[in-house]
Amino acid sequence: MDRFEVPARVSDGSSSPVPTMAAYRKAFMDATNDPDAFWLKVATERLAWRTPPTIGLEGSYHTIAESPLRWFGDGRLNITESCIDRHADAQPDKVALLWEGDDPADVRKITYGELKREVSKAANALRELGLKKGERVIIYMGMVPEAAFAMLACARLGAIHSVVFGGFSAEAVRDRVRDCGAEIVITQDFGLRGSRTIALKDVVDRALEGEHGVNKVLVFQRTGGDVGWSPDRDVWWHEAVAAASDDCPAVECSAEDPLFILYTSGSTGKPKGVVHTCGGYLAYTSYTHEVVFDLRPDDVYACVADVGWITGHSYIVYGPLANGCTSLMFESVPTYPDAGRYWDMVDRHGITIFYTAPTAIRALAAQGDSFVTRSSRRSLRVLGTVGEPINPDAWRWYYDVVGNGQCNIVDTWWQTETGGMAIAPIAPATATKPGSATLPLPGIVPVLMDDKDRIIRGPGEGRLCLAQPWPGQARTVWNDHARFVATYFTHYVGYYFTGDGCRRDNDGYHWITGRVDDVINVSGHRMGTAEFESVLVSAEAVAEAGVVGFPHPIKGQGVYAYIVLQPGQAASTELETALQKILRAQIGAHAKVDLFQFVPGLPKTRSGKVMRRILRKVAEGEPEKLGDISTLADPGVVEAIKAGAKRLA
Ligand code: WT7
Repeated sequence: MDRFEVPARVSDGSSSPVPTMAAYRKAFMDATNDPDAFWLKVATERLAWRTPPTIGLEGSYHTIAESPLRWFGDGRLNITESCIDRHADAQPDKVALLWEGDDPADVRKITYGELKREVSKAANALRELGLKKGERVIIYMGMVPEAAFAMLACARLGAIHSVVFGGFSAEAVRDRVRDCGAEIVITQDFGLRGSRTIALKDVVDRALEGEHGVNKVLVFQRTGGDVGWSPDRDVWWHEAVAAASDDCPAVECSAEDPLFILYTSGSTGKPKGVVHTCGGYLAYTSYTHEVVFDLRPDDVYACVADVGWITGHSYIVYGPLANGCTSLMFESVPTYPDAGRYWDMVDRHGITIFYTAPTAIRALAAQGDSFVTRSSRRSLRVLGTVGEPINPDAWRWYYDVVGNGQCNIVDTWWQTETGGMAIAPIAPATATKPGSATLPLPGIVPVLMDDKDRIIRGPGEGRLCLAQPWPGQARTVWNDHARFVATYFTHYVGYYFTGDGCRRDNDGYHWITGRVDDVINVSGHRMGTAEFESVLVSAEAVAEAGVVGFPHPIKGQGVYAYIVLQPGQAASTELETALQKILRAQIGAHAKVDLFQFVPGLPKTRSGKVMRRILRKVAEGEPEKLGDISTLADPGVVEAIKAGAKRLA
């Protein structure tokens, strides 16, 4: 089995709290044996508190149905004082946000001093618009610094933001506005990605048609193109913010006040609003950001995710700024102007830590090495991945070609719900194996369950649960604590169930095998198959739909849709196009079916339950592994499904 020791260049000179394997073992034991003491120390040392906490964890997984977990419950703070003010005092001229726009020549450097002024102005502008502590704000923007200013401005006022990824449709924005009861939406005229414009303001206008809850829409001007305008509702960012004072006292919050809501898909129903709170989330993201990447004072840190996902929240904005580092924000796409964009960018800014997703690595590897080797990448020290399992080939390409064999790869496993990284190598300490997220971080206690719900000791493969609470984990689902409990805490009583499968090898290394629920992960985007199905059956021609994932060489998983037509309807490419359009309108541009198969019926048990395992096996190209199909109501359907199976061209 391949094992890569930490290159000396990475292990030497670490100043992090966990620089070695010995330090890791000690931290892991401390956090496992006395989590209160461990995390209270982390939280009080790392964050700027108005009133430092004296209480660690309150509650447990056994009592979670009655009351959500709390961490640092008597602590009081405003998290922007940790992310901004103390750095603006100590190092006002250090670059906080380093922005590279769609055009590579378009660069902005926002120092901590400037960040304080910009966020204060934006917060004052929002206050003028009526925003108060505890109220919700939807942020629907591209990757511009103002998106980070907007998040932090909400936090400054104790308001709760919910960032919606700029690819979501008007329907999806409306659902989220309604679910969280937003009073204000912050957007921009157009987004810019790979020289294409995205009409963000127009989507917001359509989302808010007939909605009465949203009083104000604050619009950042990115391109200056024409947009619709509702004079009573819409306000230009540049006008409101320019007029505002750059002094905005931060509103004091409890550690357990919500910081943000982020919607994420599950196996059933509409996306859930996962709630993260102030103190525990910031302590955890700050700690893991420093420890996993081995953050050093002069690092130029680049995470090329989008702020619309948890990765952008935790590891572009909150963790990095809490740590006073220089964090890059990237507006464009990895292939614009060509497939060398990331690596040229590394040289342009002297990036030392680079964090991306396996799907991007696979897509770029497919373009050939010359796009990489034309850059020096001399500055790189740590390379991270997140979002889905990374196949060993892509891992090796990242290691050999991008990292020149001199960088450690940190394959970080975590989820929207975990708030921060949970199973991951520690750059200066952990030897790696291609495809493994390696070992649990301090405070994380993974447990594998077999199919009889027994705990697997030692090596084995099963369902991944986490046994012990940690400060960064989600506290609830917005307005639906019962759903939170039902989704994560009822499968295995006393444990947090992740929804992932996992194998543990002889060295105790963890290999995530993918979702075991009806969730698919396409290019690192989490989508529920039930969401796809409900949109597809809303089309007039469609009687039933069954959607599953299948292995896709670039995207990780592709989307395979089995469609049963209404009587009298016929399959056609026009119909497929029409169905794609509906998906795009109801969910967003990223919700695309890769393969359609029109079938006479779905395989159902006599009690009418769809046997998804059969759909999955056929889509995965393994029709011979269907297993027991004796409970099927109509075995003939399976033959038709097998005979008509589709494969990627
Ligand atoms: C799901 C969470 C965490 C930020 C991005 C995705 C999968 C995530 C890895 C990894 C294997 C991974 C899991 C997880 N996943 N990272 N390093 N190796 N799988 O956040 O949308 O909440 O999705 O992504 O299946 O459950 P998310």
